[in-house]
Amino acid sequence: MAEFCALVLHEEGGKVVPRLESLDEARLPPGEVTVAVEYSTLNYKDGMILEGQGRLVRAYPHVPGVDFAGTVLASDSPEFRPGDPVILTGWRVGEVQWGGYAERARVPASFLVRRPAGLTARQAMAIGTAGFTAMLAVMALEKHGLAPDTGPGANDVLVTGAAGGVGSIAVSLLSALGYRVAASTGRPELRAYLEGLGAAELIDRAALAAKPGRPLDRERWAGAIDAVGGMTLATVLTQLKYRASVAACGLAGGSDLPATVIPFLLRGVNLLGIDSVMCPRDERIEAWGRLARDLPLARLEAMTQTVPLAEVPALAPRILKGEVRGRIVIDLAA
Ligand SMILES: NC(=O)c1ccc[n+]([C@@H]2O[C@H](COP(=O)([O-])OP(=O)(O)OC[C@H]3O[C@@H](n4cnc5c(N)ncnc54)[C@H](OP(=O)(O)O)[C@@H]3O)[C@@H](O)[C@H]2O)c1
Repeated sequence: MAEFCALVLHEEGGKVVPRLESLDEARLPPGEVTVAVEYSTLNYKDGMILEGQGRLVRAYPHVPGVDFAGTVLASDSPEFRPGDPVILTGWRVGEVQWGGYAERARVPASFLVRRPAGLTARQAMAIGTAGFTAMLAVMALEKHGLAPDTGPGANDVLVTGAAGGVGSIAVSLLSALGYRVAASTGRPELRAYLEGLGAAELIDRAALAAKPGRPLDRERWAGAIDAVGGMTLATVLTQLKYRASVAACGLAGGSDLPATVIPFLLRGVNLLGIDSVMCPRDERIEAWGRLARDLPLARLEAMTQTVPLAEVPALAPRILKGEVRGRIVIDLAA
């Protein structure tokens, strides 16, 4: 049996301990398709799993990694053949079953999406769950009426947690689609970075994190993508234009929602929930097609750093503290 390298999490003395190990392919979970993983990525949820937070992993030893991109090695499914380029995000891979922080992965065929021709495996992982989620958020806003417009302020869209993974891709996508993007960040030193991705305006995240003084504020946003939650999301609701929507993607600033129903009742605004993990497959295929078409690849490159698997454990606490800029790709061959 072939051996492969993996980052394996062990539970020792109540702590999660990562180790690089060589594993036998026979230890891979059951599944129809075996993939030679080329790249994976570090998402916020990977940080939680590596740090043993949130009881996301129930059984150890465990191979984490909620995303991977690679090439099919063997397939029992008529849908995939050896050599096919594939992407996996979500489906609780890397949580309840072994994931992408390994040179080999095995999953059901229905979990995989064929990698679009316009994206390399590395670019697909620079996008990863974070970018896929940003695309789902854009698609949800569009389904609820967001479209580039010419009226005064009609193009103003807000992205919170802008310098993080979801935020950076949301800023890039929205500006490429023709919107005027306001980027909310707690890191003003990243102005040049965010402007390089297409942000037209920076907003101090503290201004959105304060309790709104009144249930309705000035109508500012034709749409918003929120990666922060908590008081920030509550404030965004008070600032949406009449009938506009906010796509709620994340909880980097808190999982509560201390809002009133007034913006829903008096402005007809919409709060759109975004889930990338169990998202149906047809929507996944649509989102990856859109990413290949709409995301400027030079901007994707500018927000991405590539690291070897051995460096990932040290980055986990940093992504949870909001210290990572943009996206981190993990090169399994490095
Ligand atoms: N719904 C889904 O399917 C889905 C998928 C992927 C991710 N998520 C969630 O989306 C969120 C972002 O994920 P990510 O991968 O982009 O993480 P990330 O790279 O760590 O970005 C999060 C960003 O949020 C901001 N932030 C961090 N702590 C904050 C705080 N206490 N208050 C206000 N803002 C804070 C920071 O942006 P600035 O430095 O610019 O302020 C940070 O860069 C996470 O909560 C994650 O769990 C959900």
